[in-house]
Amino acid sequence: MTDLSPQTSSFEQLKQRLSNESHTWLVTGVAGFIGSNLLETLLRLNQRVVGLDNFATGYRRNLDEVRTLVTPGQWAGFQLVEGDIRNLDDCRRAMTFGRSAGSPGTDASTASQAIAVEYVLHQAALGSVPRSLADPISTDATNITGFLNMLVAARDAGVRSFTYAASSSTYGDHPGLPKVEDRIGKPLSPYAVTKYVNELYADVFARCYGFNTVGLRYFNVFGPRQDPNGAYAAVIPKWTASLLKGEDVYINGDGETSRDFCYVANAVQANLLAATVENPSARNQVYNVAVGDRTTLNGLFASLRENLLSDGVSADVQPVYRDFRAGDVRHSQADVGKARQLLGYEPSHRIGEGLREAMGWYIREHKIDPASEPGA
Ligand SMILES: NC(=O)c1ccc[n+]([C@@H]2O[C@H](COP(=O)([O-])OP(=O)(O)OC[C@H]3O[C@@H](n4cnc5c(N)ncnc54)[C@H](O)[C@@H]3O)[C@@H](O)[C@H]2O)c1
Repeated sequence: MTDLSPQTSSFEQLKQRLSNESHTWLVTGVAGFIGSNLLETLLRLNQRVVGLDNFATGYRRNLDEVRTLVTPGQWAGFQLVEGDIRNLDDCRRAMTFGRSAGSPGTDASTASQAIAVEYVLHQAALGSVPRSLADPISTDATNITGFLNMLVAARDAGVRSFTYAASSSTYGDHPGLPKVEDRIGKPLSPYAVTKYVNELYADVFARCYGFNTVGLRYFNVFGPRQDPNGAYAAVIPKWTASLLKGEDVYINGDGETSRDFCYVANAVQANLLAATVENPSARNQVYNVAVGDRTTLNGLFASLRENLLSDGVSADVQPVYRDFRAGDVRHSQADVGKARQLLGYEPSHRIGEGLREAMGWYIREHKIDPASEPGA
């Protein structure tokens, strides 16, 4: 018999319960990295999922890949709403699964019952600190106006819970390590401002409307389907792609900047636990979502090379050091005690285990090589 710790069993028990009862979820940003991983897990658990995306930074091929990973019956539980969270009507349109008999384009033979969304997992946003420094207005429109639209649409639709992607960037210039949820500093970028405003709005919606929200402060999430291309790519997919292509890898600063890299399976687990948590004191809170480890960029570079070598890929590249990047925090490491205690969160992957799973995906992707534009 497997000896599961009580924390691990929280997620195992939840998955078991969900696979026996189908619920209706809305995943915004479903064509993106974290959104498509949430979609995959939910469909594997036989859930119904509405996905909302405008393909600003997401890809149709992410959805196509999920389709190949689930059964046709599970895929039938997915409905895509192509729309923009900056448009309130699009957010409202995404609050039901299935088309009612009165919907445009629906005849008697295709009409199905419309089922209200119960759980919202709001991931859609424009990520990246450098993007927000280059274009703060677009980041603000999606991350703040779009977020508020989603809150209003979800409140009006009477959903059971609203779980949203917050960010470790909210810790800003606070020097304390590890990071604990109630000790934050001043934001260091427009992106960090938007993610902090999300938390303020969510809190006010709880106070003013009794609305049920949970914020998840992700710390550098990585894994399959994370975009390696473009100026705003995250460090792990970007460096892996460079190593696979034999291109230079750039380290910003001296390489001793550190992060708590979090495999995407941990973020998926946190979302499902947060959305369904029953304990009232666990609701209307923000939680760190990471592992509690700290890896320097120099250490990460060495691990990526070792992982590729063990997969038979020789990555004989030396890193090129350049200036520190504006807006970056120097060190980041999460205390995940609050999520452990109140949500039953127990990270299933530390960085090494996550990298081993993710490398296989990147090597396969590199062979197919779709260096395509968002939306493809
Ligand atoms: N990946 C990380 O390390 C990390 C860390 C902290 C927070 N986050 C947050 O997690 C969430 C998901 O990030 P990700 O890494 O999967 O990014 P991603 O870019 O892969 O996914 C974001 C998705 O949102 C969609 N989107 C963007 N603007 C939209 C709009 N106006 N309307 C509808 N859809 C829109 C994009 O097309 C994309 O599919 C974001 O809110 C991000 O800020 C991510």
